[in-house]
Amino acid sequence: MTTTAPGATTCPRNKAEEIAARVKYLPSLPAVVEKLLMVLDDFNTSAADIERIVATDSALAARILKLANSPLYKGVESVGTISHAVTRLGMWKLRDVAVSVATTGTLTELADEAIQRDYWHHALYTATCARVLAVESDLPLPEAPFVSGLLHDVGALVLAAVAPQDFRRYLEIPPAERPSREESVFGTTHPRIGSRLLRQWNLPRPLCDGVRMHHNEQVITSPRDPIVSLVALADMLWKINRDNHEPRFTAEVLFTTAQRANVPLERIAELLKAADGQVDQTRRDLEIAGDVSFLAPRPPARPRRIATATDHPATATWLEQCLGYLGHQVVPLATFVDDPSVAELVVFDPTMLSRMDCDLEAAMLARKSRLCVLETEKEPVEMLVEGKPLPSLGLFPTQDELGKLLRR
Ligand SMILES: [Fe+2]
Ligand SMILES: [Fe+2]
Repeated sequence: MTTTAPGATTCPRNKAEEIAARVKYLPSLPAVVEKLLMVLDDFNTSAADIERIVATDSALAARILKLANSPLYKGVESVGTISHAVTRLGMWKLRDVAVSVATTGTLTELADEAIQRDYWHHALYTATCARVLAVESDLPLPEAPFVSGLLHDVGALVLAAVAPQDFRRYLEIPPAERPSREESVFGTTHPRIGSRLLRQWNLPRPLCDGVRMHHNEQVITSPRDPIVSLVALADMLWKINRDNHEPRFTAEVLFTTAQRANVPLERIAELLKAADGQVDQTRRDLEIAGDVSFLAPRPPARPRRIATATDHPATATWLEQCLGYLGHQVVPLATFVDDPSVAELVVFDPTMLSRMDCDLEAAMLARKSRLCVLETEKEPVEMLVEGKPLPSLGLFPTQDELGKLLRR
C-alpha cells in the first residue's frame, strides 16, 4: 500500500500504537470532575460533600445547574444549589449531568471548527434521541443513554486531533465507504480509540464499554445492556433523512436492536419528532454554538401515497413510520392491487417469499406503478424487471431519495 492514496497506510498496527500513545497527551477533564467521580463511587458521600467539591469550580457549577434546570428534565422542580440538585436529581443523574457538561467543555478544544460542527450535530442528536427513547422504554435513568449518546463517536474527534493528516485523507473517502476503511487508515477504529480516551478520563466503566461497543452487532442485539442497544438505535435513527456516514445495518439487526432497547417500532415517527423538537434545547443546555434546526426533515413539496410490498410485519411498520415521519402516507398493498391509482410508488421488500416468487411479484407490480427495492441487507439486492435493475430505497430513507424515485 502507498501512503498517498486516500485511506491507505503503511503499517496499521504501528499506526494504532502511535495513535494510542498520542491520546495520552490530550487534555484531561477538569480536576474537579475527576474528584467528583471518585466521591460519587463512595456510598457514604453526602450532598454537602458533592457541593463542596463542585463549588471549587464556579463556572462548572453554574453549567451543571443550568443543565439540571433544563425544561427537558420534566417533572423536576428548579434547583438553585448543587446540594439541591443532588437531592432532586439523585447522585447518578447528577454524575451524568456533570460528565456531559465537563466533557463537552474539554472536547471543544480537540479539533477545528468544521470537524467540531459535524461532530456536535450528530452527538447532540444521538444524545437527545437516546434520552427520548430511554423515556419511552421506561429506563430508570435516561441521562445515562444521554451522556453515552453524546460521547459515542468521541473517537472521531480523537482521531482528528491525534492524526490530523490521516483524518483529512479519511474525509476524502466517500462517506458510505468510510466505516469499512477506517481501520486501514488509522490502524484502529473510532469506538476503540474513543473508549480509550474515556478510560483515560476515568469515566465509569459501563460508559467506556458502551462507546467501544456501539457498532458491535452482537452486543447491540443481545439482551446484555439495554443502554448500549438504545444508543445504537438512536445512532441508527440519525440516518433517516440525514447524511450516511455510519455503517450499514440489515433490517434484522435494526429490528432486534429496537427490541432489546424496548422501543416499539410503531412509536418511531412520534419519537423522532420529539427528538427533533428537543435537540436545540439540548444544544443550548450544553452551550454548543450553531444552528441545529436543519436536522428536522423539511416537509415534502407534495405528500405522496406509497404502498409497501412486504410480508414482514416489522418491515411494514418500519416503512410506515419512516415514510410518515417524512410527511408521506402509506397505503395498504391490497388497496393498491385493487386500484393502482391510489399509490405513486411501491416499495418492495426483497426478503419476502422465495426469490422466484419475488421476481414474479415484482414484475406484476412494476406493470402497475413505479417500483423500488428496499435495502434490507448490507449489500443491496439487485432485482431485474424486464432486464432492467429496479432502483433501491435505503432502509433509512431520505426525502431526496424519495424525490428522485418519484421523479423518474
Ligand atoms: Fe460511530
Ligand atoms: Fe454515530
